[in-house]
Amino acid sequence: MNETTKPEIYKGLVGVYADVSAVSKVMPETNSLTYRGYAVQDLAENCSFEEVSYLLWEGELPNAQQLAAFKAETAAEREISPALHRVIREFPKDAHPMDAIRTAVSFMGLEDPETADVSQPAQYRKAKRLFAKIPTAIAAAYRASRGLPVVAPNPAHSFAENAFNLILGKVPQPEVLKAFDVSMILYAEHTFNASTYTARLVTSSGADMHGAITAGIASLKGPLHGGANEAVMHTLKEIGDPKLAKEWIQSRFDHKALVMGFGHRVYKTGDSRVPTMRKYAEKMAEVVGDKTWMEISRILAGEMLEKKNIHPNLDFPAGPAYYLMGFEIPLFTPIFVASRITGWSAHVIEQGADNRLIRPLSWYTGPEQRPVPPLSAR
Ligand code: COA
Repeated sequence: MNETTKPEIYKGLVGVYADVSAVSKVMPETNSLTYRGYAVQDLAENCSFEEVSYLLWEGELPNAQQLAAFKAETAAEREISPALHRVIREFPKDAHPMDAIRTAVSFMGLEDPETADVSQPAQYRKAKRLFAKIPTAIAAAYRASRGLPVVAPNPAHSFAENAFNLILGKVPQPEVLKAFDVSMILYAEHTFNASTYTARLVTSSGADMHGAITAGIASLKGPLHGGANEAVMHTLKEIGDPKLAKEWIQSRFDHKALVMGFGHRVYKTGDSRVPTMRKYAEKMAEVVGDKTWMEISRILAGEMLEKKNIHPNLDFPAGPAYYLMGFEIPLFTPIFVASRITGWSAHVIEQGADNRLIRPLSWYTGPEQRPVPPLSAR
């Protein structure tokens, strides 16, 4: 390369294949997504989140015996330490739950007996511990911020039952649990998105699982990424009434403003996960008896498609689904964390198995080299 000729810059790494991966495959031309070869819709309808988590890590779905062992192993790891409970109680009451879970995961790295061991078996054991403990930490931070007593994990609960019980203090009816489980499955993995790539980048320096996941959480918080599911619900609440939806979105168009929950870097003709999540969000609206949010959503999606030819992404139906399940809005992205820990850690393990330090180049645009002037001359 000629040092004076500016090379092509792939801003945002658009269209760049940075590595190979066997975890999942996005096929934008057919709006489809597979995890280890299985279509996400198929997994969402026919499997539990625990089965899909096992699949992402092990590469194959578990048989009944393997599933029982996996559930027992992870359920036994749900408790977090008294020290972490104490630290969580000291968090500012108005801390965002994403900052709380990021800090809690970092703290778990201080305590984990295998933090420094980045061998593949140790990485996998830590991934399972994080999978088990993250809902407990999210719930502890949330309940402390609201002055509510901590609920202890129940090892007999499924992942979904446990999450509801820890956060909201009760286990909802089966339709709600199923909708939650579906959202967990759909959120679990999505190739080299920003947070997953962040986790792989951290791993590439030889750093440990907890560091990679802490960084992944920091990346996921952004409103262009996971934070969009919260932003969607703020939008729907701001509009408040289906009659006002068209006027609201027109004003966004007039101001050339982003509409959260729409658009995707990879999918340009529709997000493969949306129809399944929308179906379950609509079921939630029926269960709760409140169709307002899905009705506003329907109008926004229609306008976006007609006027901008932009489709909704997964965060668009997931936001109202979580709201209808009874979660407060700042918990939406932490719930995403509780799911994506599986995909992140599967990628961390894959990166570690065939690692090369990730270190791209930058094209310099600053001043030419110059001498440092003495302080008196500045
Ligand atoms: N609302 C309004 N316009 C949007 C839009 C949105 N949500 N998403 C994309 N666009 C427009 C862009 O402004 C751009 O228009 P232009 O060509 O006139 O400049 C065009 O569509 C192409 O978008 P681009 O910014 O190139 O897409 P990207 O791949 O860089 O960004 C996202 C992808 C996801 C970051 C972007 O769509 C976005 O910010 N969406 C809202 C946040 C969100 O929902 N994030 C969750 C993602 S799963």
